[in-house]
Amino acid sequence: MSETLERWGSKRAFILAVTGAAVGLGNIWRFPYIAGENGGAAFLLVYIAFVLLLGLPVMMAEILIGRAGRRGPMQSLGTLAAEAGASPHWRWLGAFGAFTVFCILSFYSVVSGWSIEFLVASINGQFTGASAEQVGAGFNAFLANPWLLVFNHSLFLFMTMTVVAAGVAKGLEKLNNLLMPLLYLLLLLLAGYAATTEGFGPALAWLFTPNLAAITPEVVLHALGHAFFTLAVGACALMAYGAYMPEEQSLPKAAAAVAVLDISVALLAGIAIFSVVFAQGLDPAEGPGLMFVTLPIAFSHIPWGALWLSIFFLLLLLATWTSAINLAEPMVATLQGLGWGRGLSAAAVGLSVWLLGLLSALSFSVLADFRPLLGRNVFELVSSIPPDIFLPLGGLLIAIFAAWVMPQPAAASALGVGEGRFRLWRGVVRWISIPLTFVVLLSALL
Ligand code: PHE
Ligand code: NA
Repeated sequence: MSETLERWGSKRAFILAVTGAAVGLGNIWRFPYIAGENGGAAFLLVYIAFVLLLGLPVMMAEILIGRAGRRGPMQSLGTLAAEAGASPHWRWLGAFGAFTVFCILSFYSVVSGWSIEFLVASINGQFTGASAEQVGAGFNAFLANPWLLVFNHSLFLFMTMTVVAAGVAKGLEKLNNLLMPLLYLLLLLLAGYAATTEGFGPALAWLFTPNLAAITPEVVLHALGHAFFTLAVGACALMAYGAYMPEEQSLPKAAAAVAVLDISVALLAGIAIFSVVFAQGLDPAEGPGLMFVTLPIAFSHIPWGALWLSIFFLLLLLATWTSAINLAEPMVATLQGLGWGRGLSAAAVGLSVWLLGLLSALSFSVLADFRPLLGRNVFELVSSIPPDIFLPLGGLLIAIFAAWVMPQPAAASALGVGEGRFRLWRGVVRWISIPLTFVVLLSALL
């Protein structure tokens, strides 16, 4: 524990660690494709509102529970519940979170594997001079190859679990913190390049002029889920981070900084990607392949495109790597809490995630017609239900615990702000975040 204690030696280190968990595929891959399938601006509007009204306050709730409990999620929840005279069963919220990240990591690893494949392909210059049709056809051929998908999924998960088992996430985080500004810069350049193309105007219109009639219950549910997913909130994964926050740090300021950064990465990616979509006459609702098709097309038109694209996929891979480590860590910590060794815990988690991920990887070929539920195949199921339902449900319970159940003086001191601001935060959580999440979830389930 002392090793982790020194981890948040500075306020900046805490913000960077949470950013590492937050910024990942959610921003660059998932946001554009979900927005594309859900009407663009209509989705963006609801999503940003949800990040500010739900994701951000609940992120504070999640981290403050860890800060007040000073242990792993299950123990923190159990101790704080006992102090409040509440049911010890609250600790199972930590286990539910572990189950949620289990499902999420299984498809996250498969898609991160696509980035590995695309990194290699761009280093080999495969996209240089390729037409939009060729890139699209190449992507479809790749998806249809079960061996390649399974190989890359296995490689990415192995990379992730090795870091977790060796406990060297700290080193990787430092590297990530060094390189993350580069990823940001590259996205900025890409968005700047997009501004010179004829797709830019239509892309801005598509992203920023909401048609209120397009806000359907489905759009609202996806915005809800993605607000939690993109901030890494609702699975108790950030809870552990709170335990090592510096005494004097203001939690709301840190969380707000992360949210702003996270939204801006998504917006830059969205602007770059949709400019290509409209310049090339592609379909915004193209689905999970959207980023993998549009960005190679964009770079294939830029001088030194292959080099830029390789750097982009390398940086993306690094960002998803740190997010994946954050997804794996709570499960490994839970097993360790049961007395398992770290290596064994990591191996067990890795193996089970790998098995579930296999079903996702094969959903694009041999298991494409295996649709166990709601007419969706395994990839479609695990990439929608855990983010859209489990994360908001976990977030709802986390919010209830922090704002109603746990001893409120402890909550106030863990938030690290004065009485007035604490009441403001609690008012938002009690009367906006909790009811709103509840209503949206309920309407989705009915
Ligand atoms: N926030 C990460 C992303 O946007 C995904 C994530 C979800 C990470 C939940 C940890 C926990 O890519
Ligand atoms: Na994110």
